[in-house]
Amino acid sequence: MKNTTNEIRQKFLKFFEKKGHTILPSSSLIPANDSTLLFTNAGMNQFKDFFLNTEKKKYSRITTAQRCLRTGGKHNDLENVGYTERHHTFFEMLGNFSFDDYFKKEAIMYAWELLTSKEWFNINKNKLWISVYKDDEETYNIWLNVIKVPAERIIRIGDKNNTKYNSENFWQMGDTGPCGPCTEIFYNYNIKKHYNSNDFLENKNEYFIEIWNIVFIEYNRISSTKLIPLKYKSIDTGMGLERIASVLQNVKSNYEIDIFQKLIHNISHFSNIKNLNNISLKIISDHIRSCIFLIYENIIPSNEHRGYILRRIIRRMLRHAYKIGIKKNFFYKIAPVLIEKLSENFKFLKEKEKKIKEILKIEEIQFSETLEKGLKILNTEINKTSNKKISGKTVFHLYDTFGFPVDLTLDICREKKIKVDLNSYYLEKEKQKKQSNIGNKFYENYNNIININDNCIFEGYKKNIITASIKYIYVNKNSVSSISEGEDGIIFLDKTSFYPESGGQIGDIGELYYKNSRFIVENTKKYGNTIGHIGKVIIGTFKINNVLYTKINKLHRHQIQINHSATHLLHSALRNILGEVVAQKGSLVTNTRLRFDFSYPKILNLSDIQKIENIVNTEIQKNNLIKAQNCSLEEAKKKKAIALFENKYDSIVRVVFIKNFSIELCGGTHTTRTGNIGLFKIIEHSSISSGIKRIEAITGFKAIKFLHDQENNIKNISISLKTKSTNIKEKIEKLIIKIKYLENKVNMLQAKENRYQIKKMIKNIENIKGAKLLINTFKNYDYQSLRSIIDQLKKDLKSAIIILINKNNDNFNIITGVTKDLIEQITALEIIKNFIQHTNGKGGGKKEIAEGGGCLNIINLSKILKIIKSWINSKLKNKNT
Ligand code: SER
Repeated sequence: MKNTTNEIRQKFLKFFEKKGHTILPSSSLIPANDSTLLFTNAGMNQFKDFFLNTEKKKYSRITTAQRCLRTGGKHNDLENVGYTERHHTFFEMLGNFSFDDYFKKEAIMYAWELLTSKEWFNINKNKLWISVYKDDEETYNIWLNVIKVPAERIIRIGDKNNTKYNSENFWQMGDTGPCGPCTEIFYNYNIKKHYNSNDFLENKNEYFIEIWNIVFIEYNRISSTKLIPLKYKSIDTGMGLERIASVLQNVKSNYEIDIFQKLIHNISHFSNIKNLNNISLKIISDHIRSCIFLIYENIIPSNEHRGYILRRIIRRMLRHAYKIGIKKNFFYKIAPVLIEKLSENFKFLKEKEKKIKEILKIEEIQFSETLEKGLKILNTEINKTSNKKISGKTVFHLYDTFGFPVDLTLDICREKKIKVDLNSYYLEKEKQKKQSNIGNKFYENYNNIININDNCIFEGYKKNIITASIKYIYVNKNSVSSISEGEDGIIFLDKTSFYPESGGQIGDIGELYYKNSRFIVENTKKYGNTIGHIGKVIIGTFKINNVLYTKINKLHRHQIQINHSATHLLHSALRNILGEVVAQKGSLVTNTRLRFDFSYPKILNLSDIQKIENIVNTEIQKNNLIKAQNCSLEEAKKKKAIALFENKYDSIVRVVFIKNFSIELCGGTHTTRTGNIGLFKIIEHSSISSGIKRIEAITGFKAIKFLHDQENNIKNISISLKTKSTNIKEKIEKLIIKIKYLENKVNMLQAKENRYQIKKMIKNIENIKGAKLLINTFKNYDYQSLRSIIDQLKKDLKSAIIILINKNNDNFNIITGVTKDLIEQITALEIIKNFIQHTNGKGGGKKEIAEGGGCLNIINLSKILKIIKSWINSKLKNKNT
């Protein structure tokens, strides 16, 4: 094939290399050191700092083919995928960049040359249309006078809603960051020859497809209303590789280009779908590509952040698979074939084939049931609706009760042209949020109030006590110059030995003191880059600039440290036993216990737990050294340090080594040797959400105390059972057998007693209008026996009204029974209702059997029964009439 996607990528890079650009590799899909972005969404992301501060730049001309994902944040194409021929979640963006070097004219000339010259892409010039920002005269004139594009094919695009720069021809990376006006090059897919600018605007995205965007970076957006002009001007261009491939391969859709056809053929082959134009097939081919690349980047499906995006993509893909009849266990089976295809250009993917397969399998298994249930409910609702609208309540119910994702509901409704009342969905959600907040103590986040632009050096890794000076004091959220005896507040120092709560480790406690003044530190927290010592002055006064000692509580710190080191051992033990699918999802390290949340799909049994405990305790017994070292992130990765790769790290990171057993990126404090942990004991293990498990454990003396408590319990049980503690199990088994035997015996005796009572009662049967009425009172009879007496009497008497009352001091229970043949005239429930009216009791039941209870004045009982009898009489029809 001519112009394969791989060839096009190479040609692009080569062209710009010839024009003096350095070819750089694509950066990761996870933006490094940029918290404003969830995923890399454009070629320019990795050069953000170069645009903002060109003094930092290493090169002035760069070209790349960048892997991008647009499924969240400012640029989100997820919902368009499959429904247009051009949108993807994952795609490659070809780009050339100039930093304080060439600007508008050269950028446009390069683009035109590459696209139209015979030597390069050789696209017919007449098929190309141009858009420019409405006020950008300079660009307009370059296209008109230098490139000589006819004026009718250069379209000026204005602002939306009269908001300056709110325009398709003003590009910005995100809510903040580099931005500027842009000019776009469109390819006209339609054969119709003569179009005017109105046609263009009407058919944009239909026939006129944007293939290249050239951005003139001139500003830094720092807020929604504020742009700061940059000192230097730069160029950022982006051309979707899949789009240009569809032009050069002369096909109408991105899904028809070589790389997608390979994927689609394979998926259709495995799924037996013959129509290669099927929308679901396209969506699956797009989404599986994203999944493979995201899992490669160590993203794991979860309910938050990047993991949530991956989960959404997988679930949307599974829904489409389900729609075309692929029911289960599909994706992990085809993943290797697709990875094989993709690795023709991305060899690295093969490294993680096993992990990709494993994660897809887990997610598919977990979600299949939810999908099936949710689809059934949604389809019933859709069939029921008369106005083609689904209520927000239904959407919320599906999501809240069945875990059926809202975007899937929206997707399905969109396909079926059913409207969704999203407003009421949000109201429902809000309502629930409020409800679940009721009862929660209001937590005041001082972090939002105290805003100190300063830092504090943490020297507490090695020292428990240091000297420091006070820089700021806060009392009641206000900055003050001193704090005196009895006052609560927060003290900020230039340096400290107190570790602030972070990375799951709780803050240190201790004291700040000088001369006779003492401030008890009850907690330590981070406030931006500085550290707050939260507590109370118990003696004296503290003023800004005072020099003091910072003394942490050593025992408290020691307990935290052993728990933190034990957490690292636990993490490695879990990965050793359960596999790499274990990824940390949360952690809490305190002085009393540790808690570790991690992804793992299966249930952990006691034998897994004991294996894990054994491994950790073996490492403890080895008494290995625990060392921390700073190194570059690259070096840490080479050493295979465990990290939360979804997190952002600085280029220099701290790595904690417990020999070769555990190597982990961590800023926390650790004990010096594993032996200091003493003992590790898991006390709880549970599942906290779909695919996420939690282990809680204790160490050292806490673990020993736990074992002592267990031992004491067993001792007490054995004393009560009058047996040795080693014999408890047998003893309990024997007792269970004995209890069963006795229960049977009691039941038999009770049945005998019941029969005797029935015999006695039958003598008291009255006849009212031809119906049998039986009223009997018991003393301290159990409910179950009364129930079986009623059942037996109904059988024996065939047609009867039975009222049984059991007195227990001043309380009573009443059970009424009416045989089926009489319920047209009177029901058991009516009798109960009537009875309790006279007794202030409560009751309920059905027509044939009902029950109640309450307080009864014994003297009244015969009176009440008289009233009831005459009422029954009035209800019954005469048998002969
Ligand atoms: N950053 C611009 C875009 O993504 C050009 O590369 O469209």
